[in-house]
Amino acid sequence: MAGGHEVGKGGETHQTAQGQVPPLTTQQGVVVSDDQNTLRAGPRGPALLEDFHFREKIFHFDHERIPERVVHARGYGAHGFFESNGLLESVSRAAVFKKGEKTPAFVRFSTVAGNKGSADLARDVRGFAAKFYTKEGNWDLVGNNIPVFFIQDPIKFPDLIHAAKQEPDRAFPQAQTAHDNFWDFISLTPESMNMVMWIMSDRTIPRSFRFMEGFGVHTFRLVTAEGKSTFVKFHWKPKLGLQSVVWNEAVKINGADPDFHRRDLWTAIESGAFPEWELGVQLFDEEFAAKFGFDLLDPTKIIPEEDLPVKIAGRLVLDRNVDNFFAETEQVAFCTQNVVPGIDFSNDPLLQGRNFSYLDTQLKRLGSPNFTHIPINAPRCPVMNFQQDGHMAMRNPKGRVNYEPNSWTGATPRELPGPRESAQGYKSFPEPIQAQKVRERSETFSDHYSQARQFYVSQTDIEKQHIANALTFELSKVERVDIRARMVAHLLNIDQGLADAVAKGLRLKEVPKPMPAAKPTRQDLKPSDKLSIVKN
Ligand code: HEM
Repeated sequence: MAGGHEVGKGGETHQTAQGQVPPLTTQQGVVVSDDQNTLRAGPRGPALLEDFHFREKIFHFDHERIPERVVHARGYGAHGFFESNGLLESVSRAAVFKKGEKTPAFVRFSTVAGNKGSADLARDVRGFAAKFYTKEGNWDLVGNNIPVFFIQDPIKFPDLIHAAKQEPDRAFPQAQTAHDNFWDFISLTPESMNMVMWIMSDRTIPRSFRFMEGFGVHTFRLVTAEGKSTFVKFHWKPKLGLQSVVWNEAVKINGADPDFHRRDLWTAIESGAFPEWELGVQLFDEEFAAKFGFDLLDPTKIIPEEDLPVKIAGRLVLDRNVDNFFAETEQVAFCTQNVVPGIDFSNDPLLQGRNFSYLDTQLKRLGSPNFTHIPINAPRCPVMNFQQDGHMAMRNPKGRVNYEPNSWTGATPRELPGPRESAQGYKSFPEPIQAQKVRERSETFSDHYSQARQFYVSQTDIEKQHIANALTFELSKVERVDIRARMVAHLLNIDQGLADAVAKGLRLKEVPKPMPAAKPTRQDLKPSDKLSIVKN
C-alpha cells in the first residue's frame, strides 16, 4: 500500500504521507498530523474548543447539502462535443453552426418529478439539457424526451408540479404519476391530453439515456447576420435508435438497480462506447406558420415530421464522464435564456415563462448570483463586464473602473477603460408587435384533442394496448371515482375504443359523456394525414 501505516494507542489506523502520497491539510493549508482523534483534555476527557481542525472539518460537512432542483432533481451528466455539418450556416449567424465547428458540450439527463434519490425507470418525462460552450458564449438547449408539454401557460407550472410530485400530507408517491392529485389536475387541464398520450405510451421509459430522443419542444428562431429570421424546432435523434422498456420490465429493473440509467451511461462512456445523437431541425417561415392548423407558439403541439421532415445539422458525442458528480452534474445550471447571437426566442408563452424562472431558482439552489463562476457553468470565451461582488465573487473587474460609460484612457494599467459594447453583439430579432395588454389565451390554442388522437391512432395494436393498460393501471391507483370518470370523458374525445377499454378496465359503473371541448376533435385524422396544414 502507498504511504505509511501506523497503529495508534487506541488501536486506530493512521495512514501517513510518504513519497507520492501528499500530506492532508486543512482548508487553510496547514498540514494535519492526526485525523483520527479530536483534541481532548486527556485521552478520556472532554473535547477542547480550540481544535480548529475538527471544527473546520465538521463545519464543512454540516454544509455539504444544497437544495435539490425543484424539478428534475434526479439527473446524470457527461461531457462531450457538438460538431456542426454546416446545414444551419445559411439561416443563423451562430458560430456553433459553422461547418466543421466543434464545440465542447455538457449534457444532463433527468427525470422530472422524482426526488434526487428516486429510481431511474419511473413513468415520467426525461429532461435532455445540453450546454454548448460556444466561442460566442454559452448556449443551452434545455429540452425533454417528449416533444410536447402538459401546459400552455407558465402560470400553471407550479400547480402542475405540485400535483405531480408527492402529495404534501403523505410525501408519496415519490416518482410516479399514479395518484389522485396528479390525475385530478390533469383531468381539469384538457391541454395536457396530447402529452398524456405520449407519457402513457411505450416511448416514455427509455431503455437507457443512450436510446432516448430529445426535443427543444418550443419553436425558436434562428437569425442571420442580415437579420433574416427562420423558425426552428430542435430534435435529438439517438444514433443507437429509439428503445424503451415496458412497464413490467421497468418495475423489475427499478427493484434490482434503481441506478440503472446512470450506471449504463457511465459504463458506456468508460468503456469507450460513446453515445451519439444527431441534432435535427424542422425549419419553417412565417408563411408556413400562418397556414399551419395549430399555433406554432403552442407547446402542446408538434409539427408532424411528414409535414416537415427533420434535417440533420450536426452530431453530439458524449465521451467523458465527470470527475466529480457534485461539482459538475449537481452544480450545472441550464437556462433557456442562455442563447448566443443567431439564436432567439419565439413568443411561446411557456418559453417566455421559463426564461424568467431558471435564474431565480438557481440563485436559491446554488446560493449566489456568481454561480456562473463555477467551472461547469463558466463560458469558455472571454467574460468581461462590471458586475461585481456578491457571495463567492471570483471575477471582479480589475483596476479602478467598475462602470460605463467612463472616460478612463489607460494612462496606467490601473486606469484602463475596461470592456465596452460592440455592434457585433447580441441583437434581439425586431419582431413588430402591436397589441393590447390582456390576460387571455389565444383561440388558436384551443384544439386539445386532435393531435392526441393523431398520436394514438399512429400506434400499432400492441402499443395501443399498452396505452390502455397504462391508463387503467395509473387511474386504478386514483381513489376518487369522479376523477377516473373525468379522465375517461377526455379519452372519449380522443378515441372511443381507448375510452371503452379504460372504462372497462376501471370497472366504471357509468360511462361519462365526452368532455365538452372548445374545438371538436378532428375524428377524420389518420396517422398518414397531413392534418396540420390547413388545406384550402
Ligand atoms: C429544470 C422550471 C418547463 C426542461 C427546471 C428547473 C426549474 C424549471 C425551476 C430547475 C432548474 C435548476 O434548479 O437548475 C420550468 C418552468 C417551466 C418549465 C417554470 C414552464 C413554465 C419545462 C419544459 C421543458 C423543461 C417545457 C422541456 C422542454 C427542463 C430540464 C430541466 C429543467 C431539462 C433540468 C435541467 C438540468 O438538468 O439541470 N425547470 N420548467 N422545463 N427543466 Fe424546466
